[in-house]
Amino acid sequence: MHKILLAHAVICVVFVTFATAQRIELIIDSSKPGPKIDRNIFGQFTEHLGNGVYEGIWVGRDSRIPNTRGIRSDVVNALKAIKVPNVRYPGGCFADEYHWRNGIGAERAKTLNPNWGGVIEPNTFGTHEFMDFLDQIGSDAFLSINVGSGTPQEAAEWLEYLTTDQLTDLAKVRTANGHLAPYKIRFLGIGNESWDCGGNMSADYYLSQLKIYSRFVRNFNPAQQKNEQMLKIAVGPGGGEERFTEWTETIMKAWQNHKWSWDLQGLSLHNYTVINWDKKHSSINFGETEYAQVLKKTLEMGDLIDKHAAIMDKYDPQKQIALVVDEWGAWYAPLPGSNPGFLVQQNSQRDAILASLNLNIFARRADRVRMANIAQMINVLQAMILTDREKIVLTPTYYVFKMYVPFQDATFVPVKFDVGTYTKGDITLPRVDAIAARDKNGKLWVEITNVDPDRAVEVDLNTIGITTKSAVGETLTAPKVDSVNSFDKPNTVAPKPISAKTQNGKLTLNLEPKSVTVVAVE
Ligand code: AHR
Repeated sequence: MHKILLAHAVICVVFVTFATAQRIELIIDSSKPGPKIDRNIFGQFTEHLGNGVYEGIWVGRDSRIPNTRGIRSDVVNALKAIKVPNVRYPGGCFADEYHWRNGIGAERAKTLNPNWGGVIEPNTFGTHEFMDFLDQIGSDAFLSINVGSGTPQEAAEWLEYLTTDQLTDLAKVRTANGHLAPYKIRFLGIGNESWDCGGNMSADYYLSQLKIYSRFVRNFNPAQQKNEQMLKIAVGPGGGEERFTEWTETIMKAWQNHKWSWDLQGLSLHNYTVINWDKKHSSINFGETEYAQVLKKTLEMGDLIDKHAAIMDKYDPQKQIALVVDEWGAWYAPLPGSNPGFLVQQNSQRDAILASLNLNIFARRADRVRMANIAQMINVLQAMILTDREKIVLTPTYYVFKMYVPFQDATFVPVKFDVGTYTKGDITLPRVDAIAARDKNGKLWVEITNVDPDRAVEVDLNTIGITTKSAVGETLTAPKVDSVNSFDKPNTVAPKPISAKTQNGKLTLNLEPKSVTVVAVE
């Protein structure tokens, strides 16, 4: 009898533990809306690096791969579906060695790309091709100008070439090259990682350059003088160490007392998810330990932003300057057999979870983080798209960006929940993450990430003050944490529909392990 009771007690304990661990309540309070989640946090980055531009975007007019004026159509169609708000270009480190005149006109100079594999840069993709590409995908330009090896004059002339509607010699060349109307340039990055590959400058030295470039590199487009003004983004920190907090201090302090002759609207932050730069993790064939390690590392993004945002708050309490996380994502070891200078890696379900955790970190800080650019868009690092000549694969990260489209320019809605814990070895992580927002039409959207790779979760959506009928959307999960989409099996990781109806006053979603889910609540 005693034994039977004991057994019963154990079963009850196990059941209760199992049941409580499986269920969470999301309390969504839309009576207290937060800031707008700027669509520009879903920005992309493409650099003249490996197959990011050549093959990834540009195949040439004579290619048998279907294209419009040399730009591949399959890539354009895929990018249109994720509503890319802006694209940062031409680098990265490449930008500080880029001379724009090499990339215009009928005859293109053959130059070198010493940063990335030392290969020949044919310059067949240049200013006009980039602007045409943006036009085709419906995106804004974020140009990174050459502060490292260029001059203020060269950068100023690039902007005059692009944006003036007056008949200057440069505008005539632009017209001769096929574009009569001035282009719109929405964002201007003044240098790239000037503390490192961009010229190893001290903060004070960079500040002196920033003032000069900010003064002389002008946008003349008449349509951008009052509205849609070009936003200037200064090089910011690349980590949380003292040299980087000093960098943020230097720029922000100077900005607080800046004169009419220079200004800025954004400060960049670069932060990759890398555990050991000398021995990077693999993007393929890894297990749960590596899954947990990488996700733990990626969550440091929140503290890093908070650290620099606190410095910015001192000098800019009204948050006029945006923190622009214009390089972020996972950086793994190059795929075996690939050119190490081309930064080729696969993209797994781990990267989908990593992407959603970072996007949620940005959304929760939307008052300061108003722009971000994942590195990089195609074939490089944490890419949306992989190509192999005529073949194309959409990655798990691509699908996350697609599922998050309703959050672009939506209004943040606070969510409260018990994050719980997921433990692997000596690593413990929040088990669940979530955000909510209302889109322009008033529709409520909720995203929930189940980090736990083994346990499903039941989520009760408690929308304060709102009677709900249903939740409908998509969920992205995969057989394994390292599942990828390959050229042979391109659909291993793809979103599938998910829905729930309110029953007995409860709206409950059942979420699979290691999943990203976005639903509209009706
Ligand atoms: O994205 C690859 C490189 O990483 C960029 O060129 C550089 O800015 C950063 O170090």
